[in-house]
Amino acid sequence: MEEASFSVLLGSTRDWFSFLFLSFSAIFFLFSLLLLLLRSRPCCTCELCRAYLNSTWADDFDNLSDWYTHLLRRSPSATIHIHVLDNTITANPDNVEYMLKTNFDNFPKGRPFSSILGDLLGRGIFNADGDLWRFQRKLASLELGSLSVRSFAHDIVSGEICHRLLPLLSSVTEVDLQDIFRRFTFDSICKISFGLDPGCLELSLPMSQFAAAFDRATMLSAQRAAAPVPALWKAKRMLTFGSERELRRAIRMVDELAGEVIRQRRKLGFASHHDLLSRFMSSVDDDRYLRDIVVSFLLAGRDTVASGLTTFFLLLSRYPEAVTAIRAEIDGAASGDASDCSKLRELHYVHAAIYESMRLYPPVQFDSKFCLDDDVLADGTFVRKNTRVTYHPYAMGRMERIWGSDCLEFRPERWLSGGVFTPANPFKYPVFQGGLRVCLGKEMAVMEMKAVIVAILADFDIEVIGGGGERPRFAPGLTASLAGGLPVRVRRRKEVSG
Ligand code: HEM
Repeated sequence: MEEASFSVLLGSTRDWFSFLFLSFSAIFFLFSLLLLLLRSRPCCTCELCRAYLNSTWADDFDNLSDWYTHLLRRSPSATIHIHVLDNTITANPDNVEYMLKTNFDNFPKGRPFSSILGDLLGRGIFNADGDLWRFQRKLASLELGSLSVRSFAHDIVSGEICHRLLPLLSSVTEVDLQDIFRRFTFDSICKISFGLDPGCLELSLPMSQFAAAFDRATMLSAQRAAAPVPALWKAKRMLTFGSERELRRAIRMVDELAGEVIRQRRKLGFASHHDLLSRFMSSVDDDRYLRDIVVSFLLAGRDTVASGLTTFFLLLSRYPEAVTAIRAEIDGAASGDASDCSKLRELHYVHAAIYESMRLYPPVQFDSKFCLDDDVLADGTFVRKNTRVTYHPYAMGRMERIWGSDCLEFRPERWLSGGVFTPANPFKYPVFQGGLRVCLGKEMAVMEMKAVIVAILADFDIEVIGGGGERPRFAPGLTASLAGGLPVRVRRRKEVSG
């Protein structure tokens, strides 16, 4: 009897402790959520913050970037602050130089960024700071700078154009060019990075599982970055709920496929292969780290190039005189094959047109860092410790004070001096970033874009359907992509087919 009452007492004490523990956990969770909400200051009622929170900016502008451009053009120092995002946004080249070069160490990617992309990118170069970043930067710049990798990449791109892209365009009359470029760049970057062919651009147009999972994972990660209250996605992640559950599933699939690629590469041997994974395998043993390095490269090299190509053809539809000039340059250069690597380098007008189109439509429209300690930017703007500081290439390409009164015109000639392509100061044109973390794939990207543009314009007339070029709308994402794609009519040119 005594034993029975003791076990009842024990049971009710255990229940009582469980109840206390659960209540304490719930209060702790709610308190943390409240703190996070307060820290992200979603309650500011100034005009800008209200316009942001209520999305009333969308009454007058097609894209958030267009609204920011409008505000930055109006600001005397080309710098604004959105309180609810605790985000200082600048289109001032002196500030950009300050954060990317002069005081680089005080503007790392920072913890908030790495938590947004950490699940997808892990410790990959895009998500790393400090020694982790330095190690990968050194490794990657050695590889991407080497002649053998460049010619390997050129051979892959040429093969993909001749054997897949051109036959595909010959077989269609109407197509979404953005979709085609995304498939093309996914195949190319997978071959360059892994030595693996996902075959996205086959005539039957299957979209690989890998590409689809990667797309979903980048899109859902980007949604985190746009949230005015980070605590919400963090809570959803903790509860594996909604978009966070979907993101977890997509990342698991990316992990499985990347893991399989790494295992295969190890089995087949990597010493004699030229792809980046094989090269990294000589210096890195840890498979998880290899996965992170390679996924960063996919992100870096795929959507950016596809985005640059899509808006290039969008702009050409508005500026047919540029098509004529490009064809004249191709014809002039083509005593040999214009797609030959050394011939591509001679195409100065095409180079200028690519830079000009990315001035107006940069693939990475804005890029954020986090200020480590209180600082003062070059224009005198004070930034508090832990503030997000964003430079905005999209707005910078549209600033009269940087590019003159014709800044909204597509004019490749502004990049030519005596017919030779002449780059601008990278802090005025941070399309590839600039300073110590400048893009490592710049040359590869320009080579790839030139090869595609030359091949398509030599053989095909491309007409954008529906004249959607005047006011493009961008879909939310880490890289700019057109909402609704770029539907085009494709016609083989008479002189080529005849
Ligand atoms: C038009 C095409 C491209 C554009 C506009 C572009 C732009 C950029 C930008 C803005 C960054 C800085 C991102 C950040 O730190 O948040 C970056 C970094 C980087 N890009 Fe590119 N990129 C392009 C193509 C490529 C390609 C084809 C590759 C190589 C396969 C590549 C490799 C990298 C790498 C490795 C970094 C990281 C550098 C570092 O953090 O030290 N990029 N790129």
